[in-house]
Order: sequence, then C-alpha cells, then structure tokens
Amino acid sequence: MRHFISVDQLTTGEIYNLLQTAEEFRKNKYQVNEQVFGANLFFEPSTRTKMSFVVAEKKLGIESLDFNAKNSAVLKGESLYDTAKTFEAIGANFLVIRHESDTWYEALEGKFSIPIINAGAGAKEHPTQTMLDLLTIYQEFGKFEGIKIAICGDIKHSRVARSNAIALRKLGAEVYLSAAQGFERNTLEFPYMPIDEAVEECDVVMLLRIQHERHEYSVNTYDYLERYGLTKERESRMKDDAIIMHPAPINRGVEIDTDLVECKKSRIFAQMENGVYVRMAIITTLLKEWGIINENVIKKYQ
Ligand code: CP
Repeated sequence: MRHFISVDQLTTGEIYNLLQTAEEFRKNKYQVNEQVFGANLFFEPSTRTKMSFVVAEKKLGIESLDFNAKNSAVLKGESLYDTAKTFEAIGANFLVIRHESDTWYEALEGKFSIPIINAGAGAKEHPTQTMLDLLTIYQEFGKFEGIKIAICGDIKHSRVARSNAIALRKLGAEVYLSAAQGFERNTLEFPYMPIDEAVEECDVVMLLRIQHERHEYSVNTYDYLERYGLTKERESRMKDDAIIMHPAPINRGVEIDTDLVECKKSRIFAQMENGVYVRMAIITTLLKEWGIINENVIKKYQ
C-alpha cells in the first residue's frame, strides 16, 4: 500500500491489518520517535476528518502542517497539484487531501515521493471514513460475513455510500441501499430496500445526510424524516442488537430524529472516536511502507 486513495485498491488482508493496527492504537500509546511532518490539505470544509487527522498526528508526535485553502495561494490561481508539490518541497512527509473533484488524485499519480491519503474526493471516495465505519462494525459484531447493512439516504451524492458499500461487500457483508426517488445511484449495483423493511431486517442502519451542496436544485426536506428517515417508531422496530450509524455531519430532524442521535443503539460518536485510531493506523502503515519511519521509531510508552 503506497498511497491510501480508494477502497477499490484495498485487499481484505490490508483492511484487516489496518483494523488490527487501529485497535492497537486504541488500547496502547505509541509515538513516532523522530521528526515527521504531515500536511492536511483540505480544499472542502471538514470538521471530523480534518480534526481527527490532527489529533491522530499529535498523538503520534507528528507535526501537523495546517492549510486553509481560503487563505492561501489557491486564491491566486495555484492548482491542487502545485499546492501539493509545494508541501512536498518544504518537507512534508505525507499529504492528507480532500477536494471537491471525484478524481483529484489522478493528476498526482506517480508524481510524488511521499505517501498521499485521500480524505474525501467529491461524491466518489471517502476511504478513511470507510475504515472507521468498518472498525465500528467489527467492534460490535466481531465479523462482517453475513452482517446485514442498510445504507440509507442521499446515495447518489454520497462518497461514504459508495466507499462503504464496496468495502463491506468485499468483506462479506450483505449490503442494501435505501433512498428516496431521485437519490438512487445507477452506477452502484446493490439491491434497494425501503426504510421500513431495512429497520426490521438489518443489523446496521446507516443514515446519510442530504448532500445539499452537491445538488443542482434545492431539495425540500419538510416531510423527509417521516417518509425516508429514522423516526422513533422505526427505531422501535429495529432488532435488539442492531445499531445506528451516521458519518455526520447530522441534519437532526431530517434523516434522523434528534432524540435518536445519542440513543442506546447509536454508535455515531463512537465512529468519530474510531476515526482517530484508523487514521493513526493509515499514517503509520504508509510511513513504514515508504521507509520514512521504521518499527523501532514507533515507541510504546505508558
Ligand atoms: N464524516 C465526515 O467526513 O465529516 P467532515 O466533513 O466533518 O470531515
């Protein structure tokens, strides 16, 4: 694994290794014992992904190079490629990139001598979110084979839906999609299931927000919760050991009743915590692969 760009490229072995490494970081403290710089280049807004990368880096003793696209030479016309090259030139040891383009990474392929991590590519890929979702499901059920998972919401515009569906199927889960008319995604070949069936059948009900920023026209959401969202009535029909997930940000009262966000079945904030550990695992795995750090410089301390 030279870069971390797409779930399509990940083998099941690589996924399980990352999950195991993330669990190790959850249970024990490790620190890189030499100077490493990580550049977090977010060209799209982010709270969780960006800040959990920063926390992951700080926990590892890595220096985070912050970058604010709106206050940078991007405003003078500098491209993503030249911005990334600049960070490589000034000493970044790895790049974390989020950009609105579905395929921003193609322009960078083969042109960098440091690892690149995809922190979100348009509506197509969000592989680090997938890893934290996989960790959350694995912690709950101890396996993926046979686990029934419904991904519900704006499937068409959600990079999480695509990345998660592909990775979960690779691992043997039964994946169903549930969407309002117009939110389906023709290029994602998975069975669809109405939300009323999904809540009764599935072990995981994963909600997605409506991605207003990617819609051509504004969407009216006034009865969305009742028609397509997780209401308290629907939650009451879920299996006893089923869980609720959401990558967040959440639109409370739209795709999920606000009282369910922190209910017993919800793993939404556990997902966010897991984001730190999987990102620590991804960063250290890549740094080792590139020889930027070795086994000896990740030191366990009490
Ligand atoms: N889940 C997620 O990607 O959240 P942010 O947009 O806040 O990073």
